[in-house]
Amino acid sequence: MEFSLTSEQMMLRDTAREYARNELLPNAARFDAEGVFPGAQVKGMAELGLMGMMVDEAHGGVGMDVLSYALAMEEISAGCASCGVIMSVNNSLVCDPIETFGSQEQKQAWLPKLASGEQLGCFALSEPGTGSDAAAQTCKAVLEGDTWVINGEKNWITNGAEADVCVLIAMEDSSKGVKGINAYIVPTDMPGFVVAKNEKKLGIKASSTSQISLQDLRLPTDALLGERGKGFNVAMHTLDGGRIGIAAQALGIARQAYEEARDYSMERHAFGAPIGNLQAIQFMLADMATEIEAARLLIWQAAMLKEQKGNYGRASAMAKVYASEVSARVTHKAIQVFGGYGYSKEFPAERHFRDARITEIYEGTSEIQRLVIARSVLKEGI
Ligand code: CAA
Repeated sequence: MEFSLTSEQMMLRDTAREYARNELLPNAARFDAEGVFPGAQVKGMAELGLMGMMVDEAHGGVGMDVLSYALAMEEISAGCASCGVIMSVNNSLVCDPIETFGSQEQKQAWLPKLASGEQLGCFALSEPGTGSDAAAQTCKAVLEGDTWVINGEKNWITNGAEADVCVLIAMEDSSKGVKGINAYIVPTDMPGFVVAKNEKKLGIKASSTSQISLQDLRLPTDALLGERGKGFNVAMHTLDGGRIGIAAQALGIARQAYEEARDYSMERHAFGAPIGNLQAIQFMLADMATEIEAARLLIWQAAMLKEQKGNYGRASAMAKVYASEVSARVTHKAIQVFGGYGYSKEFPAERHFRDARITEIYEGTSEIQRLVIARSVLKEGI
């Protein structure tokens, strides 16, 4: 089995790392404290080709492979976890379904602007009463003549406050179950698309998380994304890819927390020597490093399966559940290495701990990932 990266992948990773270290890391504490969308930095990421990485060159993207995307997501998230999720949603939850399910006209209309950073996208599946049970859509789509009329509420929408375009999931006919669900591409400046509320959160504070209210939103028939009645498949397929991005975000947060704890352990003295000389600290660092490497391998495997157009749903669920829980453990241990300073805002350890937590929840909770994995292994074995 080949574990080495190509020279293009290494170059991309190094470019993203340099950008994260120079432009994101020095600002991440301020982004967190102010909770303001990092517009200039997202533009900078777009200039590097990071906002539509896998979009085909014919549609204005750079046509990179999925592993390159995972590498860049790790680096960007190490610098700023909020920037990581902004990038992940645009790439995985917006560009990817438009590229995979969109008509030629839809691809030409949206992808060049999304890939260049001229526009930003969001993905609206969850509702106030519909989270893990994503099929229980109550947002209603009615076809009146040649117009779709949409009414309902969506929430937990990353990029919701800034997005120019939204991939929206809605129920046309609940008597058909999941086969009554449609997906749409919605310009967010249309009358009836209302950002009702922005959530106040524990972490990833510089990315918006919004509640969207759809009030007699009227869409032309060509706003339908994919086939009528196949919207749930669009959503599930999209999340299979999105989970690789979130896994890489979790990995980036964990790696940053680990590196800071490792460096601190060589600076901080106790009992006449750096605390890194103590086995109690060494064992923590050893576990952190081991779990980070294991998470990275699962992410790379899922990325390679997606690249090969294989069945990657189980692999991406494994990568997400493992990497997000590693991120929680590593950021917890990092605070322990810093001791009291880890609990204070003087060091970034507490921010990493807060930022990591959401990766166990969004784009499918850990429980949903285990459900996906269990269904797959019971059917197909390992
Ligand atoms: N790809 C394509 N189609 C799929 C699919 C996949 N991975 N999984 C299922 N489907 C389709 C199939 O056609 C299936 O029909 P068949 O049985 O005929 O094959 C149909 O969907 C129904 O599948 P299930 O019976 O498995 O559906 P379910 O109701 O049991 O739900 C679930 C499955 C895995 C629990 C799903 O509801 C799920 O993933 N829930 C979590 C939702 C989630 O991740 N939400 C996050 C929202 S995005 C976000 O976080 C916001 C953000 O901005 C970051």
